[in-house]
Amino acid sequence: MPFNHNDHYHRTLLRLVPDGCKTALDVGCGTGRFARRLASRGIEVDAVDPAAEVIEAATAQGGGPRFHHADITRMELPEARYDYISCLASIHHVPFGTVAALRDALAPGGVLAILGCYPERSAVDYAWSLAAIPINAAARLAVAAGPRDREGTPMAPVKPPEMSLQDIRREAGVLLPGSTIRRLLFWRYLIVYCRT
Ligand SMILES: C[S@@+](CC[C@H](N)C(=O)[O-])C[C@H]1O[C@@H](n2cnc3c(N)ncnc32)[C@H](O)[C@@H]1O
Repeated sequence: MPFNHNDHYHRTLLRLVPDGCKTALDVGCGTGRFARRLASRGIEVDAVDPAAEVIEAATAQGGGPRFHHADITRMELPEARYDYISCLASIHHVPFGTVAALRDALAPGGVLAILGCYPERSAVDYAWSLAAIPINAAARLAVAAGPRDREGTPMAPVKPPEMSLQDIRREAGVLLPGSTIRRLLFWRYLIVYCRT
């Protein structure tokens, strides 16, 4: 994919890393691009993905994170451990209720950032998609003209999202009280939850 929607939001997600962050968890890390960016800031990063080929590629590239070949829904996450938890385009691969375990794994003052995908269901969803299409096309052209990604790097598994943005807002309100959720341009939303 010449223009990667998830990578496009890395800077937004990095701005959410709390001051003094020491530990982070990246859920559904794929080949580890975001986890490496966190580790490059001196953060101790656990990065988790159940897809063997992407974890192999991530481990081979190294760059600091501890890569775990694991399913987040089957892990016993330590309570109050992480200062920052990120999920980039991965929460729709697991039941949304998984966010409760992520919430509990946050240290006091920690931040959970979920960059999620949603299906087009409402007129507003379609209107946003229409707005995104020309910008997406221009971005794809610009990226295609630039340097190529590393050859042979496997693609992280993808899955179409099923939960509507309306349902996600409702569930997030229950499971992540006080969180904010906003729609982003490229078929994404961003949930930010801070543990007090
Ligand atoms: C669309 S990819 C996104 C990968 C990466 N976060 C990125 O931004 O490039 C979704 C990732 O979620 C992972 N995933 C699927 N089920 C998972 C689970 N149960 N626990 C953790 N990760 C999972 C997939 O293997 C895949 O690598």
